[in-house]
Amino acid sequence: MPRSLKNCNNFQDLKDLARRRLPGPIFHYIDGAAEDETTYQRNTEAFQDVDLVPNVLAGVENIDMSVEVMGYKLGLPIFCSPTALQRLFHYQGERAVAKAAEKFNTLFGVSSLGTVKLKDIDELIKTPKMFQFYFHKDRGLNDSMISMAQEANFEILTLTVDTITGGNRERDLRTGFTTPPKLTPKSIFQFGIKPAWALNYLFREKFELSQLSSHVNEGTNISISVGDYFTNMLDQSMTWDDVIELKENWGRKFCLKGIMSPRDARKAVEMKADAIMVSNHGGRQLDGGRSPFDQLDEILQEVGGEIEVILDGGIQRGTHVLKAMAMGATACSGGRMYLFGLAAAGQEGVEKAIGNMKNEIERDMKLMGIKKISELNPSMIRFR
Ligand code: LAC
Repeated sequence: MPRSLKNCNNFQDLKDLARRRLPGPIFHYIDGAAEDETTYQRNTEAFQDVDLVPNVLAGVENIDMSVEVMGYKLGLPIFCSPTALQRLFHYQGERAVAKAAEKFNTLFGVSSLGTVKLKDIDELIKTPKMFQFYFHKDRGLNDSMISMAQEANFEILTLTVDTITGGNRERDLRTGFTTPPKLTPKSIFQFGIKPAWALNYLFREKFELSQLSSHVNEGTNISISVGDYFTNMLDQSMTWDDVIELKENWGRKFCLKGIMSPRDARKAVEMKADAIMVSNHGGRQLDGGRSPFDQLDEILQEVGGEIEVILDGGIQRGTHVLKAMAMGATACSGGRMYLFGLAAAGQEGVEKAIGNMKNEIERDMKLMGIKKISELNPSMIRFR
């Protein structure tokens, strides 16, 4: 079990270090998923059902792993998916992820349930930024978030479409995890045995859901579980018509996160979205749902070449990225991929997570005999 960041060579090491640093309920909030967590497990296991077929002797001393996503050139084929509540995991929160993503010239998504103001992120980095949008019942809040993101020069809006009701996250039910954390004798004990985390949480900048706190108390002043937040606050009547209107109001690059069926991928093309993220929300919503990697080929058969297709979820290794890219994905993204690094050591931890991933991708590209990501193609993979 690694005791320091230096010894974290992979995803699992960073996860182990995060577990050491975080109070139990917070670790389990990040790591947990819905019900029996079968979909969460499958998200990573799915990569084992596809094998890479390398070529050799291809002169690979210099490789270029850049890709283009929604008009922006990224330094690597994977970016940081939007994830919520980051200042609970480490006091640097979104600032750490933003700076680390900028360092690797990759994209970074800020959640509607983010904990740093969008304008502060804009002041911090020069690389492209994605704002992740939850469609709330409160239309005033929706409009206010769109204006904030526009004013803060966010280039991409990503609407999450797989949270129409809260997932049944039984680890959160068991630990009692809420945002903000409730102070009960049990939670005080759990925070007390992680004093470094507790001191940072208590004495640094006060926790808030920065994009929401002007309109709702839930999550900032009233403790609520994330599952209940989705169920109570988001608009369950949302349909494609609302999405078309939202895209019009936004007027910049627009992406849908949580598309899993070819039928919906086709609808995304018809409404002229710029990209879809094939994602099941890290297995945190519909347990028993198919994994994004298992579903990627079917979606690409339907809409490949007509819309950008981003594979989100389960990625822990450079080879996972290469398998998705060989199948035809535009890019990949991940949440836990960098969140354990954030929890383990703030910005340095996120840099370690992305850096490990980058080193793996570079080594794996050389071993695959390719100099550019665009050289990857379906002839280089086999389904078992
Ligand atoms: C989650 C949300 C907030 O906990 O993205 O899955």
